[in-house]
Amino acid sequence: MCGIIGYVGKENAVPIIVSGLKKLEYRGYDSAGIAVCLKSEKNEKDELKNWFKVVKQKGRLSALEKCLQAKPLISSIGIGHTRWATHGEPSDVNSHPHMGSKNKIAVVHNGIIENYRQLKERLLNKGIEFASQTDSEVIAQLAEYYYNGDIMETVVKVASRLEGSYALGIMCLEQPDTLYAIRKDNPLIVGLSEHGNFIASDVPAVLKHTNRVYYMEDEEIAVLNRDTVEFFNIDKEPIQKQIETITWSPDSAEKGGYRHFMLKEIMEQPRVVRDTVQSVLPGLNSENRTVIEKINIGDYDKIVVTACGSAYNAGIVGKHVLEKMCRIPIEVDLASEFRYKSPLVDSRTLVVLISQSGETADTIAALREAKSLGAATLSIVNVVGSTIAKEADFTLYTSAGPEIAVATTKAFTAQLILLYVLSAEFAVQSGRLSGEEHRWLFDEMLTLPDKITQILEQTDDIQKYASECVGYKSIFFIGRNIDYSIVPEGSLKLKEISYVHSEAYAGGELKHGPISLITEDALVVALSNSERLFGKIMSNVEQVISRGAKVLLIGNCPYEDDSGPVCAKISHIDIPQTLEYFSPSLSVIVLQLFSYYVAANKGLDIDKPRNLAKSVTVE
Ligand code: AGP
Ligand code: GLU
Repeated sequence: MCGIIGYVGKENAVPIIVSGLKKLEYRGYDSAGIAVCLKSEKNEKDELKNWFKVVKQKGRLSALEKCLQAKPLISSIGIGHTRWATHGEPSDVNSHPHMGSKNKIAVVHNGIIENYRQLKERLLNKGIEFASQTDSEVIAQLAEYYYNGDIMETVVKVASRLEGSYALGIMCLEQPDTLYAIRKDNPLIVGLSEHGNFIASDVPAVLKHTNRVYYMEDEEIAVLNRDTVEFFNIDKEPIQKQIETITWSPDSAEKGGYRHFMLKEIMEQPRVVRDTVQSVLPGLNSENRTVIEKINIGDYDKIVVTACGSAYNAGIVGKHVLEKMCRIPIEVDLASEFRYKSPLVDSRTLVVLISQSGETADTIAALREAKSLGAATLSIVNVVGSTIAKEADFTLYTSAGPEIAVATTKAFTAQLILLYVLSAEFAVQSGRLSGEEHRWLFDEMLTLPDKITQILEQTDDIQKYASECVGYKSIFFIGRNIDYSIVPEGSLKLKEISYVHSEAYAGGELKHGPISLITEDALVVALSNSERLFGKIMSNVEQVISRGAKVLLIGNCPYEDDSGPVCAKISHIDIPQTLEYFSPSLSVIVLQLFSYYVAANKGLDIDKPRNLAKSVTVE
């Protein structure tokens, strides 16, 4: 899940690479490194002697920065890496870049080389010494072993031996002005700027310098010099690629005065919801609208939603809304399980893949499995040009813009909107909704940005409440029906960033087991957005209060504080009224802020929680 970047150009590569790595740190942050090529003056034999200078450091990027400040380097070419270890502990020696033992070839790698043990064994038998425990070093060693003066030939040969996934940035000492790159199943872009050219795992790494990028496809090779970029297929034949212009502004990948990206991204949600609804408005000539109009729900007997983490949680809300509005059977499957469970999908199934990054390895595998079984695939993705977006039969883009915090907020909210829109469209197509009702649903969706703004104006109350909650050992999130569909996301958010144990349950399920965990040490967050079930959730609330728990009640159901003994244990956060279907989009804002402030009160590293990475490109 690492982030890689490379630069060749007129400027010093070192600060450019370091600032690019900062934008990629969300992909991994247990160690970082950089390799540059230094050029000497001609010696007395009129020879040039180039060498690689490699600086690698365990820990956050700031540790690497300190080393580079202590001993500044200048070079017009270099590659950098920020790591999330898969093979070999996070340590200086296991950090990338990795070199061949003759120090001729330097490599940064994102991915996993599945056959690295066999390759390493063979190279060890040939007397080649390895410095690290990583799978990645085998790439550099193999490249040096094959290198015969033709680096392109070497890249092709190495690629033919590797099994697994990789995005690679490669430098060779004998071609000190050229960068090579190749990918398979891991993302890689090439950026063109006035002063030089880039490779990177993701767009934000280069956005400060350029918005002109190429998205590399599997087994394409990029050759970058200061003024030129060329692409070749795996048979070394030149290929033409289409350049794309990114519309994100460089500021969209900056904190903009907020303490954390997560808070900035929470605050952006009114804009994100508005843009996402507007991207699918009926009658609009937009890409999303065109895609929606191509999908005919009559072609399918059922829908299967598959995704990971929060995107899976969005699927749970989607199931609730889609099933209710359209009366079509919907299954929601974890993408990490999908390919192992002999999924019941065929050509009459619409498989919906949800992913912020579009690069989650498990979701990509689920997509390919679904396609191999003949299903039609629809992806809901945030990152334009990502693997899932490109491989699915239909793709709808969320308009969240770059999301940097590891814990997703705005992309999740945008995913919900597209799921509501699909529900409304399919309900019309299947005759369950009139044109007027359909318009009315869109009108209501268009009120959500203002309602979210109203919640964002209450952050002081949420912050105050969160500061009183720091001591709880366990937090339970409960809800019924529509509220039950959104509590898993509240619970996941809290776990991810505050490290507080939490669980999500249907209110009525507590009595079947989990209530044994309810004591004075527990806080129960109960949602109440369904008027017809208000009495039911309040019974659950009384049950937990009787066992000593405190309760935070969040919802739009009218709640009167009559200061009785039960009420003394309840704190209430009111949210604006909306259609029951859309209430998860409002509840989740409070849940995100609550988690954020609990973590902030504990002084945690909110944007980069321990053990996590944003883009999980390994299985
Ligand atoms: C979200 O807060 C998580 N960090 C994580 O669960 C995430 O939603 C999951 O890894 C899926 O990522 P994707 O949306 O990029 O596919
Ligand atoms: N497998 C490599 C390592 O452990 C790269 C990891 C990754 O891209 O996630 O160093």
